[in-house]
Amino acid sequence: MRTMVRQAQWDEPVIFSLGRKGRRGSSLSNVEEEIAKLAGNVTEGLPMAIKRTQLPKLPELSEVEVVRHFIRLSQMNYGVDSGIYPLGSCTMKYNPKISDLLAGATGASQLHPSQDETTVQGILEMLHTLSKWLVEVTGTDEVCLQPSAGAHGELLGALLMRAYHKFNGTAENHTELIVPDSAHGTNPASGTMAGFKIVVVPSSKDGTVDLKALKTVVSEKTAGLMLTNPNTLGVFEEDIAEIADIIHGAGGLLYYDGANLNAIMGKTRPGDMGYDIVHVNIHKTFGTPHGGGGPGSGPVGVCKELTKFLPIPQVAYDEKRKRYHLDYDRPESIGKIRSFYGNVAVLLRAYAYILSMGGEGLEEAAEISVLNANYVLKKLSVIRGFELPYAKGRPRKHECVFSAKPMYKETGVRAMDVAKRLLDYGLHSPTTYFPLIVDEALMIEPTETIEKEELDRFVEALKKISEEAYSNPDLVKNAPYNAAVTRLDEVKASHPKTMALSWRMHQNRNIIKAASS
Ligand SMILES: Cc1ncc(COP(=O)(O)O)c(C=O)c1O
Repeated sequence: MRTMVRQAQWDEPVIFSLGRKGRRGSSLSNVEEEIAKLAGNVTEGLPMAIKRTQLPKLPELSEVEVVRHFIRLSQMNYGVDSGIYPLGSCTMKYNPKISDLLAGATGASQLHPSQDETTVQGILEMLHTLSKWLVEVTGTDEVCLQPSAGAHGELLGALLMRAYHKFNGTAENHTELIVPDSAHGTNPASGTMAGFKIVVVPSSKDGTVDLKALKTVVSEKTAGLMLTNPNTLGVFEEDIAEIADIIHGAGGLLYYDGANLNAIMGKTRPGDMGYDIVHVNIHKTFGTPHGGGGPGSGPVGVCKELTKFLPIPQVAYDEKRKRYHLDYDRPESIGKIRSFYGNVAVLLRAYAYILSMGGEGLEEAAEISVLNANYVLKKLSVIRGFELPYAKGRPRKHECVFSAKPMYKETGVRAMDVAKRLLDYGLHSPTTYFPLIVDEALMIEPTETIEKEELDRFVEALKKISEEAYSNPDLVKNAPYNAAVTRLDEVKASHPKTMALSWRMHQNRNIIKAASS
């Protein structure tokens, strides 16, 4: 199999170093003076402290230089529109462009959230309808659209748990939140932020919640349990009804981490499994481009008993006046979790996605996502160096987690090296080193939007990399060679002292470096 490059290797400088004094992208004369005049008008009446006294230091380039610079940058990128992006737990699927069209349409994008309700009836109707659809998909009674991500939904969920126990006068007793050892890091983090003590429950040999162990950690202190289903190994928690009974029996609440909803939507519903609070990662399941921290949306659905605690305002329909409005009249509400109605551009994409898929379409998407994951599972099971930990012989849902531990032991090639080498074959890597209960983890989620030929390319590439690892391990350890950038220093790339996220940060770093040398 030959390497197949999908990222251009332009040696592209930052735009600031491309600029040359006097270059212009337009032929208007005296542009600077005009801008300065305009800036003067715009800032008239502003306090001196926030007035701009000089023009921003922007690079000066011709139009064609700008276009070519950004085209070259885009060619160095790899995204869901380039090919398979099997980051497990992230559900990086193709996002239909029609959703972008709706979110970007003038009628939606030019509105301001402070506008009078009567002037934004269309958008309120769409948000209201979306929340009803999410009620249907999650099997809950009411949905709040405000949270900006899954983790934000978890925080809201944990705060709702607290509000519930406080309302019942038992908040001082229910102080512990249980999370499985296979959980995403945001689960314990959100619980801690909401003031709970985190108690970890180990997984069984099957990779599911160990019921015996659960019974030993559940007590009158239990405020609730956070659990994703299917779990982060892609295994369905078949004991979910019993788990719900155990948690409810202790007076606790069951929280559904919706990261893996893509596997079950239209098939079964968290509410029907006994969950009381459910978040939905809109950006994963309902067709919104995401990555690099945003944009996201994590609506939260709750059972009837908890609806009164939901944040304000809720979008509601006034039957008498026949119009939508923002309902602030909820005295038991925990207050606000986010400004305005939520991340509307993302919510509108979900509206368009669900509308175009329909209920049957969502169900079919879940089926194909599971089929694709199991196709990959079967094919990879016979490749040297990879093993399937936990629940051997059991089918997975939408993702499968392999361990490259045998390969590491026999050749020194680690999961991270395999991931980097995949880039040389023009393919994005799976998630690595998560869940934490799997050594040398490669967590693969192909999603329903990958065709069989691309799945086969992915499997073939891993087969080839396995052969390389056993014949020439250094080749794999030093990969990638054909990507836009070669192996990064991961510590430097994410360390606050060396990370430069803007030109200004980059310049400041250089000034500090020069001063200290
Ligand atoms: C299992 C699981 N739970 C929670 C989250 C947090 O979701 P978000 O990234 O939307 O905050 C993730 C993110 O990937 C996840 O995989």
